[in-house]
Formats: sequence, C-alpha cells, structure tokens
Amino acid sequence: MIFSLWQFCLLSLLLSFGVIELQASHHVYSNLQTTQLASTHPQAKDPYRTGYHFQPRKNWINDPNGPLIYKGIYHLFYQYNPSSVVWGNIVWAHSTSTDLVNWIPHEAAIYPSILSDINGCWSGSVTILPSGKPAILYTGINPDKEQVQNLAFPKNLSDPFLREWVKVPQNPLMAPTQANQINASSFRDPTTAWLGPDKRWRLIIGSKRNHRGLAILYRSKDFMHWTKAKHPLYSTPKNGMWECPDFFPVSKTKLLGLDTSAIGPDVKHVLKVSLDNTRKEYYTIGTYNVSKDIYIPDDGSIESDSGLRYDYGKFYASKTFFDSAKNRRILWGWINESSSVSGDIKKGWSGLQAIPRTIVLDKSRKQLVQWPVVELEKLRTNEVKLPSTLLKGGSLHEVIGVTAAQADVDVAFEISDLKKAEVMDPSWTNAQLLCSKKGTSVKGALGPFGLLAFVSKDLKEKTAIFYRIFKSHNNNNKYVVLMCSDQSRSSLNPDNDMTTYGTFVNVDPLHEKLSLRSLIDHSIVESFGGKGKECITARVYPTLAVDGDTHLYAFNYGSESVKIAGSAWSMKTAKIN
Ligand SMILES: *[C@@H]1O[C@H](CO)[C@@H](O)[C@H](O)[C@H]1NC(C)=O
Ligand SMILES: *[C@@H]1O[C@H](CO)[C@@H](O)[C@H](O)[C@H]1NC(C)=O
Ligand SMILES: *[C@@H]1O[C@H](CO)[C@@H](O)[C@H](O)[C@H]1NC(C)=O
Ligand SMILES: *[C@@H]1O[C@H](CO)[C@@H](O)[C@H](O)[C@H]1NC(C)=O
Repeated sequence: MIFSLWQFCLLSLLLSFGVIELQASHHVYSNLQTTQLASTHPQAKDPYRTGYHFQPRKNWINDPNGPLIYKGIYHLFYQYNPSSVVWGNIVWAHSTSTDLVNWIPHEAAIYPSILSDINGCWSGSVTILPSGKPAILYTGINPDKEQVQNLAFPKNLSDPFLREWVKVPQNPLMAPTQANQINASSFRDPTTAWLGPDKRWRLIIGSKRNHRGLAILYRSKDFMHWTKAKHPLYSTPKNGMWECPDFFPVSKTKLLGLDTSAIGPDVKHVLKVSLDNTRKEYYTIGTYNVSKDIYIPDDGSIESDSGLRYDYGKFYASKTFFDSAKNRRILWGWINESSSVSGDIKKGWSGLQAIPRTIVLDKSRKQLVQWPVVELEKLRTNEVKLPSTLLKGGSLHEVIGVTAAQADVDVAFEISDLKKAEVMDPSWTNAQLLCSKKGTSVKGALGPFGLLAFVSKDLKEKTAIFYRIFKSHNNNNKYVVLMCSDQSRSSLNPDNDMTTYGTFVNVDPLHEKLSLRSLIDHSIVESFGGKGKECITARVYPTLAVDGDTHLYAFNYGSESVKIAGSAWSMKTAKIN
C-alpha cells in the first residue's frame, strides 16, 4: 500500500514538473486530467449555469481564439479541455452563430496532430486574406515543449461553417532559435496580421526578455515565410510576460470599427496585453508609426495599475475582431470562475465568455467605450419600466416583474444637488481599495446608490453594483465618481472568491446622468458604467438567491436623494451549444 502511494506521488510529481515546464500560467491538476472526473452532473438543475452567456456544455474553457465572420456566419474558437473541468489537453473548440447570441457547436477545429503542436494547441488569431480566405495562426507546443507558431487554412472554403482545417506542411513558421534569442517558454499568442503600405504582413507575438514584456514583431511577404524584425513593436520594462497581445486601429471621428490594416490621419491604435504576472489586462491608446514599425502610446504605461483596463473585475485573454458585415470591432474576453476547484467539479464546468462588446474610441480620445452587441437586445422580454423615481436617502426599491436571475437592467441616476458630496482624500488613488473600504454598508452623502442583484428574500445574500460621488479636495466644482461591484455578501458559501472590484469613471455628474447597465445571468453580472466608459464583471454563487428566489432592487444608502429612471427586462434563454 505504502509503496504504491509513493509510486503515485512520484508519478504526479513528475507529471506536474513536466507540465510546469510548459509555462502554461494555469495551475495544473495532473490528478484531475481523466475523463471520469469530467462529471456529467447528476443534479437536476445547475443554479449557476448561465442562460445567455457563451459556454460549452461541460468542462474547462479559457481564451477566446480567432473570432471572425465568414460568409455571414460568426465563428468563435476557444481554448478547451475536452476531458476535464481543469486546464489541460487544450484544443481549439469551435462554435458558429448568425447573430452572436445563439451558437451551434462543431467538432474541435485545431487539435494536436503534427510535431509542432503535439503537446498542445494554444491561443491565436485569424486573419482574413485579401482573397477572402481565413488563416489561423496559433501557438503549438512541440516535442521539446517549446512554443512555436503554426498556420492552418480551411479545408473547404465552400463550407460556411469552416469545420475542417488543414495545417500547412511548412509548420512551424516561427520558432525560437539560438540566433533570434527568443525565450522558448515565453513566445505565444500571435495576433491578427495587418498589411502595411509596403504590401508586407505584420503581426506581433507576446513574449518577455528577463522581466521586460515584449510584443515581438514579425513580417512576411507571402504569409508563409516570416522574419523577425530587429525591434519589437513595443516593450515595457519590469512587467513580465505579455500574453494575448491585441493591436488594432480605432477611428478618431466615427463610431465604427476599422479593418485591422487601416491606417491614416483618422486613425489611432490600441495595444492591449494580458499581464501574466497580475492576471489582469491593460491597454493604451497611441500612434502606430508605420514607417518605423513602432507603437508609441500617448501616455500612461501598460503595466501600471493606474493604466486603462477593459474591465476592472474578471476579464482576461481578450481578443477583438473586425466585423466587416456591420463595420464594427467586437471584443471577446474570457471570464473565469470564482468558485473552488471542488465547486467546479460539482458543476462540471469552468469558465465562460463575456457578452461580446462593440468597442469604439471615446470622443476624448483618451479611452475606449464598450457596449454589449446590439443583437443581445433580441433576448429582452417583459420590459419593466422604472419611471423617474426619487430614491430618498436610505431607501430600497424592489424591481418587480423581471426574472431577476436572468435579466438586463439599464438605469440612470440623476443628482440635483451635489453640494453635500464628501471630500475626496487625495490619498484615495486605488479605486478597488476604496470600494472595499467603503462597501455597500458604509453610508456616505452621495452614495452608495445603485443596484442590488442576486438578492435573497431575507437580503442576506446580495451583490451590489453602485456609485459614490466625491468632491475633489482642491476644486469645488469637480467631482470624482467611483463605481464598485461588491461581492462580499454575494453568497453564504465561503469557498468562493468574493473580492470587491472598483474603478473611477470619467463622467461629470454636474452635467451628465450616471448610467448603469447590468447583465445579470445566474452566476455572472457584467456592469457597464458611464454608458460603457467602464466595465466591471463579477462571478457570484448565491445559495439562496437562486432562480425564482432571486430579487432585484435599486437602492440608495447615502443620506442625499438621487433620482432613478430606466428599464429592466427579463432575458430569454439563448440557444448556446
Ligand atoms: C464543401 O462544402 C460544401 C458545402 O457544405 C459541400 O457541398 C461540398 O461537398 C464540400 N466539398 C468537399 C470536397 O467536401
Ligand atoms: C524564459 O521563460 C521562462 C518562463 O517564464 C522562465 O522561467 C525563464 O527564466 C526564461 N529564461 C530566460 C533566459 O529568461
Ligand atoms: C514616423 O517616424 C519617422 C522617422 O522618425 C518620422 O519622420 C515620421 O514623422 C513618423 N510618422 C508618424 C506618423 O509619426
Ligand atoms: C481567475 O480567478 C481567480 C480567483 O477568482 C484569480 O485569482 C485568477 O488569477 C483569475 N484569472 C485568471 C486569468 O486566471
């Protein structure tokens, strides 16, 4: 007995060492990599399964890969473990949709089958070639556990579902060598390529050198032979591995998306990286100098927590694509669980995708603005209108008539008198900390006010999405708006991560209403503040506020009155996989 236990320990040790070498950035549970544990949950109803978010039927899911539109059909590939609820055995799973809301599943599109991906098919992107043909570039793990870049084309371009993909015999097209000094454990996630005015393709790949985060640049004339440029497109000292870089143009003047190759006087560029060190994403807005092939951010640095983020809650490994049918750029992002691994095993699944968001440059040109794709509104039903109502200090107002566990709520708060706002302490620079310190129960003057989602009958469980308004300490007419998502009371089950999230929102409450839209879906709430200027996504696992026992409230625990108006909708269940 003892002997075999030792053998078992030794085996799992070896296994985990083997996988740690891959530098996967995911905890590797080598003892859970078997099909038996991929539970087909026996419970009749899983209270945390979402009604309109993208998820596979079961098992582990992470990064969105290669989103595209082809012949009017949207494709989403994603990192998927076909045999367990934890990370491992990664393939590119594949689903398609005509509306970005309802999805049908297909067989895995990319799975280990050649030497240069035999140990895994990791993240990558799609480029639509000028002929209209899509090309997948992805990171493969070779027999030496090195990260290399591979290319695949659709087998049959007449198949609108692009079900089968053929890997080119020249793979890998990009690989670490002695000469190029690329770290073979830190070389992954190629972007969509863009075509320069010199008719050469370019793309970037996430990497690091020592602690410097790198966007390694490659160029190609024929999409097949790729040469590493001398300089990275951009790099930043001291912030470690850049995963899933994304680099794309945005229009300065139009609320439309641009093809990834667009350049010109009306164009700014965005560089986003997923920082492995913090498991957070940051983006900057800047200028792409095509002749020098470098990116220059306007200001702020990518690694800084004072930098810009798509989402101040959970959101990682995101990727955009240009939807040429509707001239918009759409953002996909992976939302992981906040539950324990044993919770995930019980559910039989782990991870989902955020609702795809349309992104445009804000008119300030200093940040992006995100909004759920308009197609989502097809699922809205039974609108409950909230006519303009005064929420007195300390009041709670139940929104009756919506399925509160599966809803879309869009409200705006109006403040007529800001005079009593608390003064902002200049040391309060960290919004998340401030939200934790001044949680839902801490009464202020202007705030907290907002929405209570996933509320149980006795109010023991609740998730609060709210605002607080402060007066700037040195300017009587300037205000600071704080947006929070407080999960600390979201569940009576203590096994979950119930971190509070927060961000400042760049709106002026003197002249604008404070809008708040929350997409509530059983175990997720995605909130859009300031008409999409800031987003916070949270995962919650209530034990009482489940399905029909869930309530929704508007609240104002501040001492001053605020006015609320808007609508709430029940959301129909989408057909997903
Ligand atoms: C290609 O796809 C089309 C449309 O699905 C189908 O009719 C045709 O038979 C396919 N061709 C091959 C060679 O599989
Ligand atoms: C290469 O990357 C791996 C994974 O992060 C790291 O452990 C290793 O130290 C790096 N090697 C060098 C030479 O920087
Ligand atoms: C790009 O860099 C070149 C060389 O430094 C410079 O002459 C040019 O003005 C730059 N272009 C842009 C768009 O900044
Ligand atoms: C996922 O969730 C956990 C806990 O909620 C967090 O610590 C982790 O870093 C998350 N993100 C990623 C990208 O893995």
